[in-house]
Amino acid sequence: MARRLALHAWDGLPNTAEQGKGWALVQGDCIEALEALPPHSVDVVFADPPYMLSNGGTTCQSGRRTSVNKGGWDASRGIVEDHAFQTRWLTAVRRVLKPSGTLWVSGTQHVIFSIGFAMQEIGYHLLNTITWYKPNASPNLACRFFTHSTEILLWASPMKTRPLGHRFNYKAMKAENGGKQMRDLWQMPQPEGEQVVWSVPTPGPREKVHGRHPTQKPLTLLERVLASSAAPGDLVLDPFSGSGTTGVAAVQAGCRFLGLERDPTYIDLAARRMRAAQLDPE
Ligand SMILES: C[S@@+](CC[C@H](N)C(=O)[O-])C[C@H]1O[C@@H](n2cnc3c(N)ncnc32)[C@H](O)[C@@H]1O
Repeated sequence: MARRLALHAWDGLPNTAEQGKGWALVQGDCIEALEALPPHSVDVVFADPPYMLSNGGTTCQSGRRTSVNKGGWDASRGIVEDHAFQTRWLTAVRRVLKPSGTLWVSGTQHVIFSIGFAMQEIGYHLLNTITWYKPNASPNLACRFFTHSTEILLWASPMKTRPLGHRFNYKAMKAENGGKQMRDLWQMPQPEGEQVVWSVPTPGPREKVHGRHPTQKPLTLLERVLASSAAPGDLVLDPFSGSGTTGVAAVQAGCRFLGLERDPTYIDLAARRMRAAQLDPE
């Protein structure tokens, strides 16, 4: 019975733009959609919120200086307003997570400290701070500090319980790491004989055949996230779903998926990827 209710967690949500077998994409503001969902209905949330980085700066792309303009959604409104936004969506996510569920948030130094602080203020229980190493990171043009080549993933359960109630597929992760406990520094694929480190190149052309998103996450990263914290049949939610990478990994892992995204162009892109993934895995 519980499984049946969870299967339809998104039923009746306004603005369901696209759906397929075991997944739906809702277009609009994620906080509004989250507030319309039943409480404790989601097993795993992966969130890749705006970096708040598109504020007139420059970066290096294919050896050239280009402006950092990922879109209006990525602009900062100042640290106080940005922190209030993080607090609002994190609060809305916590309400829909099951006590056994977990939240993953990916971000860089521009947002991750505010997000981590908001999580502590709200009552999340931080489980890990994982470092994802990007071996193909852009060079640093200013030459005034080190090259940014990592992203942080915070992993947390909605509250601290005794005993701990969250799902962690410990044995699967240990097996993947050659029989040794997996660490919080990730590299995939790793050189033969070395322990698994979270080093994943940013997505290549094969993952962009259905269209482009400026901050698309690599599929292997999401595969690891779900392999460690989800089970087949679980409901996985992404409040900032973008090109739908979380959705592709979720359906390929036998999970159900609800993606929330403001921009209709990215809803279309995600739907194309989801449909293609169900026919022929990426
Ligand atoms: C960093 S990107 C996510 C990229 C995604 N992980 C992927 O692999 O494609 C953030 C996305 O959140 C969307 N967004 C920003 N603010 C939002 C909001 N309040 N509600 C829903 N979506 C939002 C943006 O349009 C953007 O596509």
